[in-house]
Amino acid sequence: MRLIIYNGKGGVGKTSVSAATALRLAKKGHRTIIMSVDTAHSLGDSLGVELGPDIRNVAPNLDAFELDIIHEMKTKWSSIRDYLSAFMMSQGIDGISAEEMAIFPGMEMVAALLYVLTFRNENTYDVVVMDTAPTGETLRLMSFPDVSNWYMDKAFSMVNRLMGIARFTIGKVVDFPLPSKEVMRALGELKDQMTEVKSILEDGQNTTIRLVLNPERMAINETRRSYAYMCLYNKNVECLVINKVIPEDADGEFMKIKLDEQKEYMQMIHDSFEPLKMMTAHMLRTEMRGIEKLEQLADMIFGDSDPIETYSGESPMKFYSETPETATLKIKMPFVEQDQIDLYKGRDNTIILQIGSQRRTVSLPMTLANAELLGAEFGDSCLFVRFKR
Ligand SMILES: Nc1ncnc2c1ncn2[C@@H]1O[C@H](COP(=O)(O)OP(=O)(O)OP(=O)(O)O)[C@@H](O)[C@H]1O
Ligand SMILES: [Mg+2]
Repeated sequence: MRLIIYNGKGGVGKTSVSAATALRLAKKGHRTIIMSVDTAHSLGDSLGVELGPDIRNVAPNLDAFELDIIHEMKTKWSSIRDYLSAFMMSQGIDGISAEEMAIFPGMEMVAALLYVLTFRNENTYDVVVMDTAPTGETLRLMSFPDVSNWYMDKAFSMVNRLMGIARFTIGKVVDFPLPSKEVMRALGELKDQMTEVKSILEDGQNTTIRLVLNPERMAINETRRSYAYMCLYNKNVECLVINKVIPEDADGEFMKIKLDEQKEYMQMIHDSFEPLKMMTAHMLRTEMRGIEKLEQLADMIFGDSDPIETYSGESPMKFYSETPETATLKIKMPFVEQDQIDLYKGRDNTIILQIGSQRRTVSLPMTLANAELLGAEFGDSCLFVRFKR
């Protein structure tokens, strides 16, 4: 099963591009589902259909739903919730509601990934398209090396937090019920599921991330950061979708000015992300809504090609550590022959690589923010930049 996750800054067109992709996949004959994992859902709006938390068919070969974490909390994980309620009650506090549990960060993604796992295990779909919330939340999940531990940590910090509340409320710590066998079993099962989810997420052949951005400074900066992050955590970013590109023949003084500005930003995108595959879509004059418009968007992005394709099985950029003190950034640079590499520290925790006529600006992960730059080597069509922490 293929899993395609779209991510990017707010408003760049993630939902539109996800919906367009899903429609095209379905048209190509793949059993497709698109899921929206964003509290501010707009997938139904984009497709022009009524969507809710239950999976429904919206076109031949295409199912869709908008994940609702409160609904998930009410319908699933009941033993864990019951335990937490019993725990709260033992503290003299009314039980915890699904709404209260739903506020914990990352819950949506966990629930979404459990769906993905079910789809894969039951072989319901050939491809799952995930439309996500703007960068932050998705990144946070990607950044934890072990999703299952991440979940467990969350669960335990939640219990701690509840204990904190209990202390505050009643002024003393009282006994509380120990989790039952059933609760422990449910937690254990979740942990196992999360381990499986982790292996799905890191299977770069089948699971890929596509970053959507606009030719605009802030979107580029944010995309650079999230790209570095995802590479750092071994997620396969296979392409960029540059959306809302102003067409060359745009008329009017205002558009002409925008067009000039955009040229600079397109160059900046190339300098930052080459050799990552890039696809572009023009800004339409009218709102991007409804199936007809989305088909038009799919044409611009994919032409006749099949969006199920994995453009690259491995991200062109990778961070790894040989020893706790050193780290290496490996960047595929297949078109570079020049032996002269210039390396600079850039602003905002970036490094700038000048190789012949190519220039790359790479955002560094926080863990390398103050690392010393040791140098760079070129070999095997890859550039290796070494750091000392
Ligand atoms: N190529 C395009 N041409 C014209 N309008 C577009 C294009 N792509 C997206 N839009 C419009 O831009 C707005 C934002 O698009 P969309 O909702 O897909 O972005 P998003 O990244 O999912 O936003 P959010 O971060 O709020 O979820 C919508 O009004 C949509 O109709
Ligand atoms: Mg959206």
